[in-house]
Amino acid sequence: MSDTLTGVAVVGSANLDLVVEVSRPPLVGETLLGRAGGRFSGGKGLNQAVASARSGALTRFCAVVGADEAGDVLQQTLADAGVASVLRRSADAPTGVAHVLAFDDGDNSIIVAAGANAELDVDDAVAGIEGAAVVLAQLEVPVVSVAAALRAGRSAGALTILNAAPAHEATLGMLADVDLLVVNETECDDLGGVDRLHDAGAHIVVRTRGAGGVDLHRVGSTPVHVEAFPIDPVDTTGAGDAFCGALAAALAQGDVIEAALRRACAAGAIVAQHRGATTSALSPVSIAELVASR
Ligand code: RIB
Repeated sequence: MSDTLTGVAVVGSANLDLVVEVSRPPLVGETLLGRAGGRFSGGKGLNQAVASARSGALTRFCAVVGADEAGDVLQQTLADAGVASVLRRSADAPTGVAHVLAFDDGDNSIIVAAGANAELDVDDAVAGIEGAAVVLAQLEVPVVSVAAALRAGRSAGALTILNAAPAHEATLGMLADVDLLVVNETECDDLGGVDRLHDAGAHIVVRTRGAGGVDLHRVGSTPVHVEAFPIDPVDTTGAGDAFCGALAAALAQGDVIEAALRRACAAGAIVAQHRGATTSALSPVSIAELVASR
């Protein structure tokens, strides 16, 4: 990382999450009655930016939302978290919406209607990462823009992190510009497994396994396992995003990767104990307390 670069830049999606609590997914052709619902700020990019800022890192966020009330809600969430957002308001497309089915065990299923997220272009992405020490992106916005952000970040000397969520085959073509790849078990399998990712150029793969913790795979080294913090999850939506945001923040603050992974696991555990994909309960203090509790 270059000394002249500062903070974390997140490039990605911003959605309004419409949540319905339900015991199981509906069958095809079935109408299922859910219980309580809720409206929360979400989107993998927004969740990661909020988590980075709430973890104590100077954070900016590059995204596109609609010129609608949902866009105002998301902008307020970012402002409340102290994220310096570079939100472009689309004149044509509405803010992205995620339909979240929240199950009793805290797990979920999500369908995203991209809306304005699909308009995040290469110029937005390249401008959005300028001057950042750490660039963090996911794959809910056009892959060409993500690739451009990572390439620009890499050329400028930033540390680049790709959270390949949702999994997309284009990931393999971006790995030359990725310092650290974060995938969950499903995404890792979809992309062919850790060995294939190493062969394709991913030197560091962080594989998250929910309650099973995290595995750090570095080419030429024995994998390192980091335990998850035992919790009773309330809502796991955004827990993986909190992990990524806190990881980026810790690396921007100079942590070595093993310490950064512990802080990231703590952030994921804190978010999973609250409803919605972001929570003001996440802070440098709450993360430090949970890390110290072990
Ligand atoms: O990772 C969780 C997020 O995925 C939700 O907030 C939803 O908006 C989707 O982007």
